[in-house]
Amino acid sequence: MIAPAEHIAVPPSEARRSVTFVPPDGSGVARIVIDRPDDRVNAIDARLLENLAAAIAAARAATPRGLVVMSAKPTQFVAGADLGMVLGASQADAERASREMQRVLDELAALPFNTVAAINGPAIGGGLEIALACDVRIMAETPNARVGLTEVRLGLMPAAGGTQRLPRLIGLPAALEMILSARQLSARRALRAGVVDEIVHPAGLIRAATDHAMRDRKRKPRGGKRAAERAATWLAPARALVIRQARSRLLAETKGLYPAPLRALEAVATGLAKGMRAGLEAEAAAFGELAASETGRNLTALAMLTLRQRKAALAGLGSPRPVANLGVVGLGFMGAGIAQAAASGGLRVRARDRDAAAVAKGLSTIRELTTDAAKKGVFDRREAARIIGRVSGGPSLAGFAHTDLVIEAVFEELETKRRVVAELERVLRDDTVIASNTSALPIGDIARDARVPERIVGMHFFSPVHKMPLLEIVRPARADPDVVATAVAAAIALGKTPIVVADGPGFYTTRVLSTMIGEAFAMLGEGIGIEAIDRAMTAFGWPVGPLQLVDEVGLEVAGHAGETVSRARGISGPTIVAQLVGEGFKGKHKGGGFYIYDRRGRRPNPRVAELLHVAPGPVTEDIAERLTLTFVNEAVCCLEDGTLRSAGEGDLGAVLGLGFPPYLGGPFRYADANRQSIVALLERLAAAHGERLGPAESLRSRRPFFEL
Ligand code: NAI
Repeated sequence: MIAPAEHIAVPPSEARRSVTFVPPDGSGVARIVIDRPDDRVNAIDARLLENLAAAIAAARAATPRGLVVMSAKPTQFVAGADLGMVLGASQADAERASREMQRVLDELAALPFNTVAAINGPAIGGGLEIALACDVRIMAETPNARVGLTEVRLGLMPAAGGTQRLPRLIGLPAALEMILSARQLSARRALRAGVVDEIVHPAGLIRAATDHAMRDRKRKPRGGKRAAERAATWLAPARALVIRQARSRLLAETKGLYPAPLRALEAVATGLAKGMRAGLEAEAAAFGELAASETGRNLTALAMLTLRQRKAALAGLGSPRPVANLGVVGLGFMGAGIAQAAASGGLRVRARDRDAAAVAKGLSTIRELTTDAAKKGVFDRREAARIIGRVSGGPSLAGFAHTDLVIEAVFEELETKRRVVAELERVLRDDTVIASNTSALPIGDIARDARVPERIVGMHFFSPVHKMPLLEIVRPARADPDVVATAVAAAIALGKTPIVVADGPGFYTTRVLSTMIGEAFAMLGEGIGIEAIDRAMTAFGWPVGPLQLVDEVGLEVAGHAGETVSRARGISGPTIVAQLVGEGFKGKHKGGGFYIYDRRGRRPNPRVAELLHVAPGPVTEDIAERLTLTFVNEAVCCLEDGTLRSAGEGDLGAVLGLGFPPYLGGPFRYADANRQSIVALLERLAAAHGERLGPAESLRSRRPFFEL
């Protein structure tokens, strides 16, 4: 009989090990069981690697008929390297760690009997590299089982043979696609790509893996299923073409700001041209350099902050109340996205809009978002149907008495929002939390006339909701700590990363963003061209320039947020916007704004340039520096005045919500790394353009925001 993962007897003396060797049973199949004892996840650290090496040696000595490599965590194979090991490592240490893991996996690959990886959940990064060092991979078909080499997202690259074994297994084009995009594949897609050999029902995983271990003969990977893939992998001219194309695509996408994918590409190319040994050398050397580089450290630190935030966000708050039923008021652009995210997170959603037509439109958006996600493989069709089935709606508040949390996403008008709160309070239970998705209005103002103002918080989503990972939870002074905790827990249930900020106009994110956009307007006032501003920012690593962003959001909406924030800061608001709106330039979706949008694409609007007296000018780094530092300076002010709880939340909010260039690590990490030059530049800018640009006090002080 084949025991399921959880019931394999592990000798008591081995109980504290991360990896255990289980000698062959009656079938002749031995097992290597990975189960980090001190952690919910199997993350690879030094001990796990040491134990794995010992288990492989024991397997070699036991000469079984076959070997299954498996995890004893219920729904997880191996999640990758422990980031704590990478962050702060010197170049030499990181390179050494890579060589050590390469060596251990070489031993696994060299075992003289058949080896099978039983992938029961995420096999990511080093986890997939372990599986790639086996002869066969069997994967459970469950929603959370995924394979991927996602290291480049951390500014790193696969460093345990992944850049060598994956192309040899599935061919160069598919391997590059996986490694360079850091994409994760579901079981079905992994099977189609050839990463795994078979997918099975989770309950049958160990049986299937054991069968393969018993029966299969050892075989060599072929470099892809189709002849064209094998040619692109093994024939030098075809390979050179694929590599050249990948390199030019990468250079265009990363603008040269993210070295990791390029280094991974080089290691892949070296390995195929000069052999596995040379490829592994290149892999370890490049990994060492990346891990010790500023970009690598910044991106790894961000990933760690994100991981830790699930717990850290709840620190100092009350106890979350359970949320199973969510109400959404206003099923427009944002409301529909919120309802869909909540239903995807397993909540039942009751929605309300003004009339049946608005409700129908919202529900149809929710269906579209869900079927699109299913097409992309985010979940399967049955799950998509369940998600759609969890949402219902109507033009009244019927059904809202059962809700545990209600999020309003009606028009950005204080009076409308207050009215909605009053209506809700007539039907909700007293312990139901009310959250506003306002982008700038102080929550305290919305809650002013409420019967139970303590239950009102802000849950500020970012658009488009299904893509943006951040949720800014706004905590008004009067809010009950349990209410804030409930909003944070709900954010996590929706799959978002929450940050908790104090109430005030624009909170954290809208405040820093509006301040930066205000500076872009000031530049227009100085005669700097529209495209010069936007292009300088995208070249610096922002996803879109500030003026294009204003066009996307709409000039009226952006102007309203800008006004709310600048009024609170005691500076004059953006008069440029009022002027443009007055002339009928309202943004991308309303006939154009700073740019004209038509079939030919997007180009600067000459009428706007004329109105503002700006001329096209050179794209210079000065522009990007001035705007980025305006952002950094305001973020630091937010930490000083208590709007932010921590520098870490400031970095997360900026990168995950506003597109602050991730390679810089966020405004606070960037400030730590460049404090002196930032202060000097801000002082120069203040002298030239006004005191608003003077460096914040804590930038002048020499105390870093982060220890590491
Ligand atoms: P929208 O205009 O697409 O949707 C608003 C919806 O609310 C409409 O469907 C409207 O019929 C409905 N509505 C208005 N008054 C109502 C009432 N009294 N009862 C029930 N439904 C009512 O607007 P959008 O863009 O979804 O914005 C909604 C809120 O989200 C605003 O507060 C906005 O500031 C905020 N927000 C918007 C972001 C964006 O990028 N659009 C980003 C973050 C927040």
